[in-house]
Amino acid sequence: MDGVAPEIIQIPVAGSDNFSYLVICNETGKAFGVDPGISPECLLRVVRERGLTLEILGNTHGHNDHVAGNGEVLRVTGAKLAACPIDVPNPDITLSEGSQIQIGKVTIEVLHTPGHSPGAVVFNPPGALITGDTLFVTRCGRADLRNGDPAALYHSLLRLAAYPPETKVYPGHDYGPKPNSTIAFEREHNDFIKCPDLESFIKLRMG
Ligand SMILES: [Fe+2]
Repeated sequence: MDGVAPEIIQIPVAGSDNFSYLVICNETGKAFGVDPGISPECLLRVVRERGLTLEILGNTHGHNDHVAGNGEVLRVTGAKLAACPIDVPNPDITLSEGSQIQIGKVTIEVLHTPGHSPGAVVFNPPGALITGDTLFVTRCGRADLRNGDPAALYHSLLRLAAYPPETKVYPGHDYGPKPNSTIAFEREHNDFIKCPDLESFIKLRMG
């Protein structure tokens, strides 16, 4: 595994079935936050209780149930906002395929994973994928919303499925039989990833 392994905390967002995340460099106490959702106090409570410095807040995509709390988190913590501008206008840090986010000694790779939305990204700290609404436990995001693209989503899912089997999967919603999983579990139990070709994926996803 490349780089320092971070601690990752999955935080249920009150009043929704969304998850926020903190990726923490325990050597420095610095943290990266993901998708505060409609209840930013849930993420902020953990930051405060742990005495963390939230340096950067990232968004997996621009849908309101993920970004609604951005302003409150940025105001309270002074963090910078990192997102793909196709989805989230005017971020402080522009994310695209191959971007890297450095939090203390932890490096987080960024994958551009369009399909659920055109500016969707997945965050890849060492050993984990924070997948937003691209991949859920045993499911995947919708591709029939405005600007959705089922062919792009299938391609994005195949990219994620190619990660090492032990890679942790941390989704944007609590839609599956358990709150998080691994790539090995998804390869075995996710019917969308198991589709043998684009045609069968589109039939399953859009049918
Ligand atoms: Fe979404």
